[in-house]
Amino acid sequence: MSLIELKNISKSFEQKKVLDRIDLSIEAGEAFLILGRSGAGKTVLLRHLIGLIHPDSGRVLIDGKDLNQLDEQELVQTRLKFGVVFQNSALFDSLTVGENVGFALIQHSALTKAEILPKVHTALEMVGLEGIEELYPYELSGGMRKRVAIARAIIYRPKIIIYDEPTTGIDPISVDKIVHLIQDLHQRLSITTLVVTHDLDVGLKIAQRVAFLLQGKIIFEGNKDDLQNPERITDPRVVQFIQGSSSGPIKEMEV
Ligand SMILES: Nc1ncnc2c1ncn2[C@@H]1O[C@H](COP(=O)(O)OP(=O)(O)OP(=O)(O)O)[C@@H](O)[C@H]1O
Ligand SMILES: [Mg+2]
Repeated sequence: MSLIELKNISKSFEQKKVLDRIDLSIEAGEAFLILGRSGAGKTVLLRHLIGLIHPDSGRVLIDGKDLNQLDEQELVQTRLKFGVVFQNSALFDSLTVGENVGFALIQHSALTKAEILPKVHTALEMVGLEGIEELYPYELSGGMRKRVAIARAIIYRPKIIIYDEPTTGIDPISVDKIVHLIQDLHQRLSITTLVVTHDLDVGLKIAQRVAFLLQGKIIFEGNKDDLQNPERITDPRVVQFIQGSSSGPIKEMEV
């Protein structure tokens, strides 16, 4: 049994089919990359995993449990297996960094404030930002906000961490720091890691296994080595994406 299984998932918004019969399995402990152009449906796919979006057809299984068959409380428990670093960091602007990082514990544990504080400190330390508990998100750079979002995601010691475009809009030095942080957390916490990005370089530094989403379908799935050896790739669309070429079978409008 895989930790995460998508079975024949389809999802449309109005007339547009965003996910088209997706099958995907992610094993416990692995670092997995979902690649795709902007608008390909990567975020929509992630939101299915935590039950924020329900598929039109198909099933999502986490630890063997079908999300559709869980009651509200079981769904909350299942969501707590995930730490999610959302695309825009999604920090609460009116809360301090400390309150943001401690949010899941404040909401979902019986711990007191005094018990939560050292956990917040440790989580911030793990992302290299100790001592900024009292600052507000607007006082942070984009790279720091991202790291605070990562601290918030790991505080509950989730089984799975999802990073949605973890490096978009961040300067190259901060990108490198975040990539190292993601690699480090994957190893230190033995946490199953799912990264979604259109940035091939970043994705391949983090993941061992890769799926490529195009026009609602996974058109490539394999190991990182397969993607880095052009002779192993048979689909010219995948080759075009890897080469970052504007000419090829993928046209401008196709995502
Ligand atoms: N709630 C929604 N209602 C209608 N359409 C939606 C909704 N959510 C997503 N879409 C559409 O689904 C498609 C895929 O969106 P999604 O955000 O998953 O793309 P993405 O691959 O994450 O792109 P990016 O790399 O830019 O983040 C887009 O065409 C988007 O407009
Ligand atoms: Mg997205």
